Amino acid sequence: MLSKTERTSALQWLGKQLFNREDPAAFFDPLLERINPMWVQQYTPARVERIEDETADTKTFVLKPAKRWDGFKAGQHVNICVDVDGIRRNRTFSLSSAPAQWHDNGTVTLTIKRLPGGLVTNWMHDNLKPGATIGLGEAFGEFLIPEAGEPLLYIAGGSGITPVLSQLETLAAANYEAPVTLLYFVRTQADIIAAQKLYELRQNWDALTLNIIATNESETPRFLKDGDLDEVNGIETRRCYLCGPKGLMDLATDLLTQRGITEDRMHSTFFATPKAALDTDALGGEVRFSNSDISVSSEGDAPLLDIAEAAKLSPRYGCRMGICHQCSCKKTSGTVVNRLTGKSSGPGEENIQLCVSVPHGPVTVEL
Ligand code: FES
Repeated sequence: MLSKTERTSALQWLGKQLFNREDPAAFFDPLLERINPMWVQQYTPARVERIEDETADTKTFVLKPAKRWDGFKAGQHVNICVDVDGIRRNRTFSLSSAPAQWHDNGTVTLTIKRLPGGLVTNWMHDNLKPGATIGLGEAFGEFLIPEAGEPLLYIAGGSGITPVLSQLETLAAANYEAPVTLLYFVRTQADIIAAQKLYELRQNWDALTLNIIATNESETPRFLKDGDLDEVNGIETRRCYLCGPKGLMDLATDLLTQRGITEDRMHSTFFATPKAALDTDALGGEVRFSNSDISVSSEGDAPLLDIAEAAKLSPRYGCRMGICHQCSCKKTSGTVVNRLTGKSSGPGEENIQLCVSVPHGPVTVEL
């Protein structure tokens, strides 16, 4: 039994701990997590209901988020967090289910492919089991269905099909009448993700034209070519959605641009970090993390997020691809180069994304 003095000092200590924290939830969550993982406050807990095999290296995780989760629009991403060997890891994935499914039964799906060397994707494939809980962020992203009933063209590659699945199911349920074409590139027929769902959509929805193209089933790889676009009726009037590896996206963008389709009619989302060609010898510099009073030097095209982690700091991050803005941080001085676009920032104060910002000379950030 604590004495009155001990109780008072314990309460003072607790008050001080909470007062000193930007996020009191971070303080209580470890305790709540032990009592009931669905009570955790720092992120929305989502229980794994089921796991379904899609292909040899791709699974669909059916999740039930706690009721406070705000929902999503077809084509959006979410950040998730999982504990891998005691370290909390964040990643960004597109939701592959339609919002209607969440409204109907409260579940959403993530369809995730194993990646060579992928820490989180591989851990999820090997360790996540029904009944486990993961953290889910609120949905975000501008890869969205147009409001008007325009003719559409989707070009997807591999696991880039996931946001497209969400959109196609949503359009089919609304009986979207304008023509919709999907060109879906997979390595082999065995790599088609959600094959059954795609074939059912084609069968039950007259507006959809489905063309699945295997790239690696003949001696020479079969990539997107102009002839594939010739077969899309009225292609010049289509609004285009691109999602897949950078090579496919670049090629599709070039071919569509040659046909006069303007940037504002092309929507894209990446599944690997695209990189601009940077002059790495000219990059790097002294980095000062002013809140932590740490200075380190950097070389080449290492982004500030990697530099901060190497300096034993733990900045918040999500996708590590310049999509989610979780890593946004204030730069107070110096110039950084965006490794996605190759563009330089101004020299003064501005918000930057740590995961795609490479120092170009001395830089100070508030971290
Ligand atoms: S971590 Fe997502 S934008 Fe940087």
